[in-house]
Formats: sequence, structure tokens, C-alpha cells
Amino acid sequence: MVSNTRGQFSSKFGFIMAAAGSAVGLGNVWGFPTKTASNGGGAFLVIYLVMVFLLAFPMLVAELTLGRYGQANPVSTLRSVWTKNKAVAGVMGLIAMVTSSFILSFYAIVAGWLVAYAFIPVFDVAGFHAVSEWLVNFSSERNVVLAVIFSLMNILVVQKGISNGIERWSTRLMPLLFILFAVMIIYIFTQPGAIEGLKMYLVPDFSQIHGGLMVDAMGQAFFSLSLGCSTMMVYGSYLQKDVNIPKTAAQVASIDTGVAFAAGLLILPAMFVAKNHGVDIFTDDGVLKSSGDLVFKVLPAMFDSMGGVGAVLSFGFFVLMVIAALTSSISLLEVPVSCAQDELKMNRTPATWVIGGVIMLISIVICLNFGTLFGLVADVTTVYMQPLLGAVWAVVVGWIWHRNKLLQELKHGYPDIESGLFWKIWPWYVRFICPVAIVMVFLYPMF
Ligand code: PFF
Repeated sequence: MVSNTRGQFSSKFGFIMAAAGSAVGLGNVWGFPTKTASNGGGAFLVIYLVMVFLLAFPMLVAELTLGRYGQANPVSTLRSVWTKNKAVAGVMGLIAMVTSSFILSFYAIVAGWLVAYAFIPVFDVAGFHAVSEWLVNFSSERNVVLAVIFSLMNILVVQKGISNGIERWSTRLMPLLFILFAVMIIYIFTQPGAIEGLKMYLVPDFSQIHGGLMVDAMGQAFFSLSLGCSTMMVYGSYLQKDVNIPKTAAQVASIDTGVAFAAGLLILPAMFVAKNHGVDIFTDDGVLKSSGDLVFKVLPAMFDSMGGVGAVLSFGFFVLMVIAALTSSISLLEVPVSCAQDELKMNRTPATWVIGGVIMLISIVICLNFGTLFGLVADVTTVYMQPLLGAVWAVVVGWIWHRNKLLQELKHGYPDIESGLFWKIWPWYVRFICPVAIVMVFLYPMF
């Protein structure tokens, strides 16, 4: 039974929006189009879709199921499943918690840039050109100020708890983001140059596929579905027992992949439209320039080209992006906060402020050593730690957890699961294929 002291998502729709809120974020709108554009377009898209379907989705089911069974933070959840080796289980939970904290520390920096871009048109219209100039230009001070602003917003939502904070915000704002996306895609297709971008996106050039691209695509899929670092395990622990987990996971994965795909449909054509407007995107030999901040050049160029309505749309778009980043960040912060609440018996409010504060300090250190630390932290956590922790969860679910207990947990929301195809394939798949495939993708570039 669910203990009364833990929060819970109040409805299935609320859960789907919150989990999709965690999944949909910078990874979809910034990470995915950037990686696609710098890795041969369509080829990356194809490998990415394969990774989502074959590896990330089965692991999403695994993490949500573990979490709902444990009804606790990841450290306790893993211990309750891995009863023969509680020490190792606890350490794995802690590693996941540290990973999610470090992801948040670099995520808040990029999210801070979004906050800046939301307000640039406002400052421009109000005549504060010096401020908008300062916000556009890269500097350590700017990055610190923005990361701090974003981190405080994050802390304020998380301290409100599950249904009042996380669920309420996700449910209201995610649908709005989808609508705005649709409007912008329609607009960009009316612009000259868009078709060139569409071709690059949808016509795969398979000569571009190499081992490194597969590792990147796998990392991106795990990042986008918020896997490995135990956020989905924590969200699963707040999930009602009558929810059908495989179905819900499929819905969340479809929404996330749909938004990533849509972001590609917007950004890649927008790149070529921007190029037509004189924005430098490629070097002379056709390589993407400064791929990291591509989105921050291309989208403003698109909004500029729209005249007065562009400023309004730009504000709306970046505000919604801040919200998308916020619904992801709250899930990242919820991991250490849930550990502190259960394990250290701290109250939610102080736990959120202390932990959120420490992570904010890490963000500041990264801002002050941006060149050395940003890429390093992002790569270690997302390209390596997330999939590797995913492989560990696959071993836990496939080999360590008693099969009957796994079945009982899934049955709560899916009583006739044993007669369906899912139960015939998934347990074996998670047991044998997922861990081996994840490790093989890592080893592949070495050969
Ligand atoms: N899935 C988020 C995105 O695509 O932006 C990022 C993320 C959130 C990664 C939560 C990991 C996580 F645990």
C-alpha cells in the first residue's frame, strides 16, 4: 500500500504530463537537432529512432516498474529488490543520485540561456538595448546570473511537492508548448530554403553511420527519456498502482520522440532559412559552426525575419522552453530530494533548499571554468553514466529481481498481462538483450 506521507500523482493524465515533462526538455529542442545536424541529418535520426525503440523504451518500463514497487527513493528501492547485496544496491542508488545532480548542474546553465532569450525581445522593446546586448553575449558573469535565476525557479517548484508543484505545472504548460511548436513549423515551411533543411533531415546518408554516432545516439535516447539516473524510478514511486506501466511508458516515449522529431522539423529547415538571411552556420568546408549554440543563433534569426509578430512569438517560444526545461529540472532535483527525505528524514522544504543550493554552487563552478568543465560534465553524465546505469538496472530487473514479484507489480495495472505479447518478450529482452546491447554499443567504436 501507498504510505500516506509520500506524495502521489493525482491522475493518470497528470503523471503522463509530468513524466513527459521530465522527458521533453533541452534534450529534444537543443540536443537532438544539434546532434542531428552535426551527424549527417537523416542517418542520425534513423539510428536515434532505433535506439529509442529497442533500448530506451524497454528500460523506461523497467525503471518505472522498479520505482512503483519500491515506493521510495532509488537507494531504498534498489535495496528492496537486491536484498542479497544491499550495500552494492545502495551504492548504485547513490551513483544514480550523484549523476542526476551533475546533469542538473550543467542543465541549469543552458536553461539559463533560454531565460535570457525569452527576455531579450522584452528588453529590446522597452529600449534597454544594453541589457539585451549583455544577455546575448557569452560571458561568465552572464552565465552565472542566469544559472542562479533558473536554479531558484527550480527550487521553488520542487519545494511545493508532487501534485501541487510538479504535476500542476506540467499539466498546464506542456500542451501549450505542443501548440506553439506546430505554429512555428507551419511558418518555417513557408520560407525559402526550408526544403533544403528538410532534405538533410529526412533523407539519410548511411555512409555517415559509424560507431561514435551510435554511442551518441544511444546517449541521446537515454538522456531524452530521462533514463539511468533514476528520475523515472522516482516518478514511478509516486505512481498509482492501477496504472498500466507498459502502456504509460509507450505514451511517454511517443510524446518525447514526437517532440524531438518536431524540433528537428523546425530547427533543420530554420538553419537553412537563417543561412538565406546571412547567418553563418557552416564553415567553408561545410561543417557546422559552434554546434552547441546553434539553436541560439538559428531561432532568433527566424524570429527576426518575422517582423513584429516575431518578437511576440519569440517571447512565447522561449518562455515555453524555459518551462520545458523546468519540468525536466524538477525531476532531476527530485532524485536527491527524495533520498534526503526518506533516508535522512529531512523535511521537503529544507532538503530542497540545501540540495538545490549545493547543485547551484556546482553550476557556478562550471560557469567559471566553462571551457574545461561544461563539455566534460555533460559527456561523462549523459554519454557514459546514463546508459551504463541503464545496463545495471537491466541486470537488476532481469537477473536479480524475483520474476514473480516483477510480474505481480506489473499486474496491478495490467491484470491480463500474461496473455499478451509484451510479457512473452519483454522480460527476456531486458534480461539478455538490453545489457549486452548497451555494452556492445560502447565497445563497437574500439573495433
Ligand atoms: N530528458 C531531459 C531532456 O531531454 O531535456 C533531460 C533529463 C531530465 C535527463 C531528467 C535526465 C533526467 F533524469
